[in-house]
Amino acid sequence: MSAIGFVLPRITYHGIGTLEKLKEINGKKAVIVTGGSSMIKTGVVKRAQDYLAEKGIESVIFEGVEPDPSLETVMEGVGFMNKTNPDIIIGLGGCSAIDAAKAMWVFYEYPDTKFEDIIPPFTIKPLRKKAIFVAIPSTSGTGTEVTCVSVITDRKKGVKYPLVSYELTPDVAIVDGELCKSMPPHVTAHTGLDALAHDTEAYVSTLADCYTDPLVRQSVEMIFNALPTAYKEPENLEARQAMHDASCLAGISFTNALLGIVHAMAHQLGGMFGIPHGCANAILMPNIVRYNSQATDKYKDLAKLLGKETAEDYALEIENLRAAVEVPSSIGEYGIYEKDWNEKLDIITANAMDDACVGANPRIPTKEEIKKIYEYCYTGKKVDF
Ligand SMILES: [Fe+2]
Repeated sequence: MSAIGFVLPRITYHGIGTLEKLKEINGKKAVIVTGGSSMIKTGVVKRAQDYLAEKGIESVIFEGVEPDPSLETVMEGVGFMNKTNPDIIIGLGGCSAIDAAKAMWVFYEYPDTKFEDIIPPFTIKPLRKKAIFVAIPSTSGTGTEVTCVSVITDRKKGVKYPLVSYELTPDVAIVDGELCKSMPPHVTAHTGLDALAHDTEAYVSTLADCYTDPLVRQSVEMIFNALPTAYKEPENLEARQAMHDASCLAGISFTNALLGIVHAMAHQLGGMFGIPHGCANAILMPNIVRYNSQATDKYKDLAKLLGKETAEDYALEIENLRAAVEVPSSIGEYGIYEKDWNEKLDIITANAMDDACVGANPRIPTKEEIKKIYEYCYTGKKVDF
């Protein structure tokens, strides 16, 4: 049974050139929330503004959302929206820009709401009284254009908060692979493997069903086919669009079926050691396939898509793909010193056990097992329990 039903944006445009579909949006004034300068430098923001203008929609830009967007940036954006009064909010850029725009949207609609009020999952009140939300991603990984999640960092506390509510699912998603051409190879690798982790976890989740499973199978095939090409040939639009579509399909799957312990454990590697999210997922994923395969047969389906048979084959295929895009195979190889690692292992184990993503994992782990998986992933040893 899925969480509350099967939730999707009202419309998802996908394909090269679909940025132009901004002409289909209705409204009077848009705020475009974007990150550093890449969407401006490459002319994407200007093109978006021109399409909106053709429809008679005025637009203004809020730029400079940083990676791992902070609460301060969100509140700055809210101040900007309070002054400009948009009825359309457009998150345009990497997942940070879109996630920040989602959080701005909440505080713009509910000025009296405090950040603490919306940290517990599913507590955001109904949105869309002031504005609709359009998401246009320029990276292919988080699937935030279709998900109910926005990750915001409280820098004072040094904590990343995933805000979760189906209210945050965008109204319109535009999945145009042309926007991904400017993504550097290592970001292509990390975000692409993050999408594969979404697929792999959603497929074996206790909430997976006949709506999410076919999307995962399609997405997994596309990622194995397209990621090495997108990594080596950034301008290859066919590979870029395939990865963008695959990431979106993975997003639809996991926003409805949720995730598992790859993400629960990767969140700690990001928070404590700064390992990029997709890289952390990629290091952990093969060993967690091995661990979870004691509780589910479903990895065999994914292996078959790749012309293989067993869960172990699937784990090996992930390792091959990871190597093809030059992502480290262990936490040690990534460069975390053993002393640091040993000092923090118990804390990250405890935090991983508390992570919300544990709940939908097909095998319920003990604390000792999580610690052992971390230890095996530090050295690169294959999980055998
Ligand atoms: Fe992820």
